[in-house]
Amino acid sequence: MKQLPLLGSQMSETLSLGQEARRLEEKYAPRMREELRLGRLVSYVGNRDVPLLRLYRYKEAFAFQLVEEFLDRFDAKPEDYVFDPFCGMGTTLLAASQRGIPAIGVDRLPLAAFIARTLPLFFEIPPGQLKTIFAQLLSLVPQTPPASVAMDVAIMRVAFPEEILDRLRRWKAAIDTLDSPQREVFQLLFFSILEPCSHTSKDGQFLRMRRARKTARPEEVLARQVLEAEKDLLHIRALGWKAPSPGSWTVILGDTRDLSSVPFLRPPTIVITSPPYANRYDYTRIYSLELCFHFVRNFDELRALRHSLLRSHIEARLGPSEAPPHPAVQEIVEILRKRRDQLNNPKIPDMLTSYFVDMRQAIREWQRVLAPGARIALVVDDVRFEGYMLPVDLILSEMADAEGFQTTEIIIARYKGNSSQQMGRFGRVPVRESVVVWRKPT
Ligand SMILES: C[S@@+](CC[C@H](N)C(=O)[O-])C[C@H]1O[C@@H](n2cnc3c(N)ncnc32)[C@H](O)[C@@H]1O
Repeated sequence: MKQLPLLGSQMSETLSLGQEARRLEEKYAPRMREELRLGRLVSYVGNRDVPLLRLYRYKEAFAFQLVEEFLDRFDAKPEDYVFDPFCGMGTTLLAASQRGIPAIGVDRLPLAAFIARTLPLFFEIPPGQLKTIFAQLLSLVPQTPPASVAMDVAIMRVAFPEEILDRLRRWKAAIDTLDSPQREVFQLLFFSILEPCSHTSKDGQFLRMRRARKTARPEEVLARQVLEAEKDLLHIRALGWKAPSPGSWTVILGDTRDLSSVPFLRPPTIVITSPPYANRYDYTRIYSLELCFHFVRNFDELRALRHSLLRSHIEARLGPSEAPPHPAVQEIVEILRKRRDQLNNPKIPDMLTSYFVDMRQAIREWQRVLAPGARIALVVDDVRFEGYMLPVDLILSEMADAEGFQTTEIIIARYKGNSSQQMGRFGRVPVRESVVVWRKPT
């Protein structure tokens, strides 16, 4: 193992890299550069002032402005066709649609697909209507029987004070009686208040219980969210934003590892996306309250959903014949398996293996469906386990090159710390968050 000085002017510490990781760093160094100005845009924080996107805090989203930036760099035109294979709340679709570019997104998490499908519905709501409906719901809620929710999921039994939970279930049932599109818009606002009404907080990779935290009253927070949504309805008009034209905004609840049933209008020419990160991230835990209120009926469905997502989480099951699909992954998996006892979770080698198996399958599908000459911008984090840095940006790039893409640039957007335990043990060595740019040859 060699110690390499970390790329980046302000970094003085060293980082352990396996031989394979080092080879990758050398191979891609000429195409790697820093553009730390983008650092602000690779996280959802950049959406704080963006109408509609600010109404639901999808923590894994990137900023609207990042998508705009890459649409510019790719010289996107209305004749293009944008695809986001991990579309989350629909940031890419919203930015594309505001330039009159048709877009399609796929996401496996029903909450994400729901939000992405609901954003265009806001354009159908006249200003003032949400306030009126809220007042009607307020008088309806006390006599509405509580909606059934997935109470066999443990977190649901401790997340809320009993009275608040009862109130939320009545709100949910009352909202469900509305007609579309008001129903979906209110459901989105309702999902956004579950965290403040609970003792939980979405914190890094975890949904943490904060028993001491005061919980908000559903009607108070929902009233506030309705006012914010009303502001946004005026704001999008002031900005001149247009409702997407019919058929130009499609969201599929599906798996990007198999795009065979996705109804593409034609082969997409631009991809702007960000996959789950290989850092033990489990979307079904972070969003379990939202899922249990609407998208799953019980724990078995929640668990089945967990196992249908890309395997970025620690419960990932590795098939008997699955092996690391890249030598840099194999190298770190071997190192980590030898140190299984020291790992804070012995399943990390299996997670890394399955994550890259899944990403290779996703890249193969993109290669199959994209138009010749298509451009891809993919935002991704490197990860670090036991002091070894895994250059996810470079591994994915080499895998993409092997599948027939060409890596044109690796743009370092920011340097990040890793988990607090790791920083405690190994010192504050940050990892990269990069935008990798690939092209499908013509
Ligand atoms: C980093 S987030 C993308 C966020 C998005 N860029 C946005 O602005 O909202 C990654 C997304 O991948 C989704 N995902 C996980 N497994 C998937 C799969 N197999 N197919 C499609 N999407 C998946 C997650 O639900 C999550 O929404």
